Amino acid sequence: MTPPGAPDLAALRPRLPSPLTPVEDERFARHGVRLLLKRDDLIHPELPGNKWRKLAPNLRAAADAGRPALLTFGGAYSNHLRATAAAGRLLGLATVGVVRGHELADRPLNPSLTRCAADGMRLVFTDRATYRRKTDPAVLGALLAEAGLRPEDVHVVPEGGSNALAARGCAALGEELRGAADVVAVACGTGGTLAGLAAGLAPGQRAIGFPVVGGDFLEAAVRELQRAAFGGPAGDWRLDGRFTSGGYARTTPALDAFAGDFGERHGLPVERLYVAKMLYGLTALTGEGAFPEGTTVAAVITGGP
Ligand SMILES: Cc1ncc(COP(=O)(O)O)c(C=O)c1O
Repeated sequence: MTPPGAPDLAALRPRLPSPLTPVEDERFARHGVRLLLKRDDLIHPELPGNKWRKLAPNLRAAADAGRPALLTFGGAYSNHLRATAAAGRLLGLATVGVVRGHELADRPLNPSLTRCAADGMRLVFTDRATYRRKTDPAVLGALLAEAGLRPEDVHVVPEGGSNALAARGCAALGEELRGAADVVAVACGTGGTLAGLAAGLAPGQRAIGFPVVGGDFLEAAVRELQRAAFGGPAGDWRLDGRFTSGGYARTTPALDAFAGDFGERHGLPVERLYVAKMLYGLTALTGEGAFPEGTTVAAVITGGP
């Protein structure tokens, strides 16, 4: 039962389970590998993919705790900030976005932050040093005060939306794929989607995460999220960090050409920051013979352009 005054997520009519579509691609077929696309991008036009899966349980938790406002964090182009702002508008919740970069306060808003503001999100710009310390209770307290909010009224969601609730929400993605694939591929930023996906899969299925940024933090981040969400390690997963194309929002001519071509072949607009890198990595792994003949691989389309 939805408590009185709680946001009615079902009224947003999410498309769940998300469609699972086989595609013909000779780069996979030639190795005897069947490719499926898990179209999480079609779950909701404004809260697509892992945005829905991660935000929905946080929105329910905020409602259950009687907290009418959501505060979260992101960079100037954060998909997560945009999705949180949209959720606030759709469900009648106040939202605050803490944005990295105090210098942005004096410039015209970029299109992404313009959307956030139009959806009613209050934007609080912070310098990078403060932003790095955003989980420090004193820093968080000061940010809440700046936003004019009482701590007891606010549900705080971390950067990228990845907390234990989010990982549990993403376990449903794995559960939807039980019995449908041997290997599931997903792009990773903060690791919340992979943490949940792997936990939701059945024994014998495995997940491969493709980080979009370099650095060694992700493996520990996924482990920590699984500990917080499920009490310990869950599912069979690994990371393949070879396909970051130089880092966050970086690309290469080869990656651009690949993404454009994949989109044309399969009638799918390929999101470039995450999904393109995962599809590129998965195609390369298949070409290397990483999967035995007869393997079914599902690629999770975690968002749209
Ligand atoms: C489209 C898309 N795919 C994948 C991810 C990575 O998700 P996570 O941060 O849970 O690893 C993101 C970031 O939130 C994203 O926007």
